[in-house]
Amino acid sequence: MIQYIGQEKLIEEIYNRKQEHVFQYWQSLSDENKNSLMKELQGIDFDLMEKLFQGKELPSVGGYSPAPTIDPSKSGKEEIKKARDIGEKCIRGGKVAAFLVAGGQGSRLGYDGPKGKFPVGPVSGKSLFHYHGEKIKAYELKYKVKIPYLIMTSVVNHDETVAFFKENSYFGLAPELVMIFPQNMIPSLDTEGKLIMKNESSIFMNPDGHGGSLRAMESSGALKKIREMGIEIVSYFQVDNPLVKIVDPLFLGFHIMKEAEVSSKAIPKAYAEEKTGVFIKNDDGRTGIIEYSDMPEEKLQAKDDEGKLLYSAGNTAIHLINLDFIERVTGKNEDTLPYHRASKKIKAFINGGVKEIDGLKYEKFIFDALPVCKKDMVYETVREEEFAPVKNSEGKDSPQSAKELISGLSRKWLIDSGINIPEKVKTIEISPLFSVDGENIPKETVILDKTEICLE
Ligand code: UD1
Repeated sequence: MIQYIGQEKLIEEIYNRKQEHVFQYWQSLSDENKNSLMKELQGIDFDLMEKLFQGKELPSVGGYSPAPTIDPSKSGKEEIKKARDIGEKCIRGGKVAAFLVAGGQGSRLGYDGPKGKFPVGPVSGKSLFHYHGEKIKAYELKYKVKIPYLIMTSVVNHDETVAFFKENSYFGLAPELVMIFPQNMIPSLDTEGKLIMKNESSIFMNPDGHGGSLRAMESSGALKKIREMGIEIVSYFQVDNPLVKIVDPLFLGFHIMKEAEVSSKAIPKAYAEEKTGVFIKNDDGRTGIIEYSDMPEEKLQAKDDEGKLLYSAGNTAIHLINLDFIERVTGKNEDTLPYHRASKKIKAFINGGVKEIDGLKYEKFIFDALPVCKKDMVYETVREEEFAPVKNSEGKDSPQSAKELISGLSRKWLIDSGINIPEKVKTIEISPLFSVDGENIPKETVILDKTEICLE
């Protein structure tokens, strides 16, 4: 057994759990590397890893049916007005913070760096971070309030993200209200349940999924800070969607009126195989989301009496989450979100060289908050107005499709405002600082007869 003063118990545990291969290179490590390996090992919950490997902590799926949803377009005028008023009051009262999860890399996009740096402005070439930042600034100006902005990164992209915000002067936001913090990491395992080495002195870990964002918000101190500022609800969104309405009074109003702890926006799925999760109601009455890849073919294709998709409420990954709820699930000894397991190829350090092996990666998903919250709401919204995910390098859900959707919505806003658009104009971009939700576009706005137009 290796020796390390002060860590005898941990070392014994590692041997007892038959993970001693992590010390394979111990004798040749520098003191600094010995130190950092011990530090990593101290952070690992071996009990949890064992349970995960045995499948004890994995969520189980029972029977389910489509989740009931609320469609605001079917509400009466009075209810809409009431909801909007309640939502606006909540925003003006400084009770809402924005919460962006940006821990993932743009690997599916073939982009080497934080996905938020990826350019999506169809004319300006503005990045996703730029877009989101300007939107929050625009809401601050619109509602005359300061909106704290929480951004979860991961160790892989944290420093680059912070540097990008600094270089861009926080997109006009107050730096002390922009809280950027990395998520936690969890080891991957090989198919025998053994820890995987990344190199001689480091364990292979992966970010713990966007479900880890609540815990990261708590451990970074951001949760306490926003609570002290009087925040009651966070508006959660993903980095890859430039059309997200980060602060939406109507959504907030319905969330408050329905006394929900967690609310989610759904869009009708475009086709059965679309790669979104769908909202379901478990047989025990609780709401949940099932990823399209986990749905049996007959459910994926099932139609209702009118021939429409039965499981059609697609997950936009836009949520409102109450601070009370976050405090409850991240409180002492509580961490109710389960881990999901995915089989992945992993580059492992084995016998002095790197080799690709089959491994198991564990992640938490934010939507597992739905079955554990006291009350939730699934709110239907319009795809063209709120959902333009940038996932793939080309084709569906690509930078090109997102640019077309941004341009299409900008065009609609101009038409709805009675502005004449010359025929030559193909691509239009409206900066959130010019109009954040299509309102207050001056009637006298003149659109030049050019193929590309950007209103700043
Ligand atoms: C996700 C949802 C899917 C939904 C779709 C909408 C899951 C499992 N599925 O799919 O139901 O319909 O979005 O676009 O989430 N992230 C982190 N840390 C992590 C992992 C991810 O911050 O450890 C962030 C990413 O930066 C990104 C977001 O979470 O902003 C979504 O991750 P991604 O892996 O792209 O989810 P999808 O599979 O596209």
